[in-house]
Amino acid sequence: MAVLSVISGIFHEATSIIGAIFVVAGIIAVIAGLIERASFSRKERTFEASQMPEKRAKRIAVITGASSGIGQKYARIVSEKSEKFGIDEVWLIARRKEKLEETAAGLAIPSKVIPLDVTSQSVPERLRNELASEENVCVTFLANCAGFGKYGSSAEVGHEEECRMIALNDSAAITITDVLVPYMRPGARIAQICSVAAFQPIPFFNAYAASKALLYSYSRALRIELLKKGISVTAVSPYWVKDTEFISTAAGEQRKLLLSSKSESVARVSLHDVLHRHALSTPGIVCTAERFFAGILPDELLAYIMPLFL
Ligand SMILES: NC(=O)c1ccc[n+]([C@@H]2O[C@H](COP(=O)([O-])OP(=O)(O)OC[C@H]3O[C@@H](n4cnc5c(N)ncnc54)[C@H](OP(=O)(O)O)[C@@H]3O)[C@@H](O)[C@H]2O)c1
Repeated sequence: MAVLSVISGIFHEATSIIGAIFVVAGIIAVIAGLIERASFSRKERTFEASQMPEKRAKRIAVITGASSGIGQKYARIVSEKSEKFGIDEVWLIARRKEKLEETAAGLAIPSKVIPLDVTSQSVPERLRNELASEENVCVTFLANCAGFGKYGSSAEVGHEEECRMIALNDSAAITITDVLVPYMRPGARIAQICSVAAFQPIPFFNAYAASKALLYSYSRALRIELLKKGISVTAVSPYWVKDTEFISTAAGEQRKLLLSSKSESVARVSLHDVLHRHALSTPGIVCTAERFFAGILPDELLAYIMPLFL
């Protein structure tokens, strides 16, 4: 009995301490978030006040992966909310020109179609040339939506496809961000489309999850680095989205996946978070719950659970 009461006492103390740590960490995170957002707004206001109205630059939104899925929805929604996002023109990037033209046809503001494989070596030069061809431009919004994944073991997916995933999901997103940040002014926003796959290792979706973990970590760190420039970075981490080309590309066929969301709601919720300069957007109940459990459960356990959701 005495031993039991000692164990119960230790358990009680431990849970109280862990609970207190969670509460204190939560309060610190909320306060830090509020300070960050106040800092973005102050820098944007100071910059706007210093601008002569007649010298105002054309404000560009650059969206990769705009020929389909989430990127296509992003283009439409930011064009509808162009005042809130501070955008005069949307630049649409992906490989399929005719699909980009379809996206462009549905936009509420002018756009430019840029058919481009974002993994190609010529991307920095091409983007700098496009910007140089305009008289006076700045980039106020960047969304890196281009991305793909492949199901299967590492051996099944193969080395070449794994490298292609890293080239598109990571190298291309980082390259485009590096090229465009110098053209951004205080108040600009960056959205990096990551995934819930970023939060833990996923066997049989291995390289994809790892590539999204890299992009997620990069985005969270870049947010702090760009704080002094007044540019916000939001890591967007959705769960399965059923009405895009992603799942058919990943699996070789369209699959029905439990609790998957629609691209319209994912785009709307995440753009609301981007607009409000959140560090992380989990646009839906499932991805929010997944983020929570990934934060408290060990990777050793999650690595066995996650393949059940593929
Ligand atoms: N759907 C999901 O379940 C899900 C869940 C979590 C995260 N995500 C992430 O969300 C992002 C958008 O995916 P989605 O669901 O909208 O998929 P999607 O419909 O397949 O869209 C992918 C986009 O990327 C473009 N793209 C692919 N390779 C490219 C390249 N080399 N150069 C330029 N553009 C390229 C595609 O256009 P072209 O083929 O015309 O080049 C397309 O516009 C991806 O980063 C994905 O990882 C998706």
